[in-house]
Amino acid sequence: MKTVRTIAELREHVRGWRKQDKTVGLVPTMGGLHAGHVSLVEQSRTCTDRTIATLFVNPTQFAPHEDFATYPRTEEDDRQMLEQAGTDLLFAPNVSEIYPDGHSTRVEVQSLSHILEGEFRPDFFTGVATVVTKLLLQALPDVAIFGEKDYQQLCVIKTLARDLDIPVRIIGGATVREADGLAMSSRNQYLTAEEREIAPVLFEAITQVAEKVRDGGSAADLRTWAEAKLTKAGFGAVDYVAVRDAQTLGPVRDASRPARVLAAAYLGRARLIDNVAV
Ligand code: PAJ
Repeated sequence: MKTVRTIAELREHVRGWRKQDKTVGLVPTMGGLHAGHVSLVEQSRTCTDRTIATLFVNPTQFAPHEDFATYPRTEEDDRQMLEQAGTDLLFAPNVSEIYPDGHSTRVEVQSLSHILEGEFRPDFFTGVATVVTKLLLQALPDVAIFGEKDYQQLCVIKTLARDLDIPVRIIGGATVREADGLAMSSRNQYLTAEEREIAPVLFEAITQVAEKVRDGGSAADLRTWAEAKLTKAGFGAVDYVAVRDAQTLGPVRDASRPARVLAAAYLGRARLIDNVAV
């Protein structure tokens, strides 16, 4: 697996593959890799001939008070995991390659970016949408794979690809979890041993909410119930526990359409997010 740092080199590799009629998959990441990221590479390999992983801690999706400076940066370990998973090329650009001086364009997916996560992280999805649009246009893959772990992000990316007519198929990959249910995340490293014991309660709570919704429970009552459960277990602020339409992420109006339970809550200095299907 070769590592390239410039868009020109990335395009050269893709051009070579296209000449051989190979299909290409893209798996964007910010590193600090775990089995969840690896599963996306494996999924890409099942549906394309060549897989590119990207490694870029994107500064525009972090607010000034967030963890950009301390976000795990473990390129050597990440390289090994990606190579072992069968990745063909790693694109690991520097910040100046993606955002050279004078860069002034932003991509914003309007309504979806300002609800749920967007209410608590107002510029987050614009940062994600901007960098993902750039990565898609740099690599021009046939498919790009994103985890359902970040369900709202997946919805934002599907919307931008559709709205901007980017010729790529966006595919979701199932959430990979630890044995006790905790969704794998690069930020789980921030948990102390004691917090790590408590962390699976988030998955437990949203799973129970999903079951109760299915049995006809009211979303508002369940939200209060889940918040109390999280607080009792030792979680700090609960940003949201919400039952939404799985496609629009708006309120559930039609009980026959698929729904999703999404939640975000602090545990110590870590902010955990998770979601499950109803
Ligand atoms: P990052 O958090 O590194 O995640 C990279 C990809 O891995 C995302 O598509 C994410 O949803 C997926 N992922 C994370 N944890 C997962 C798990 N437990 N199971 C399955 N997939 C999982 O998400 C980002 O980076 C960035 O916002 C990015 C899209 C790269 C743009 O900068």
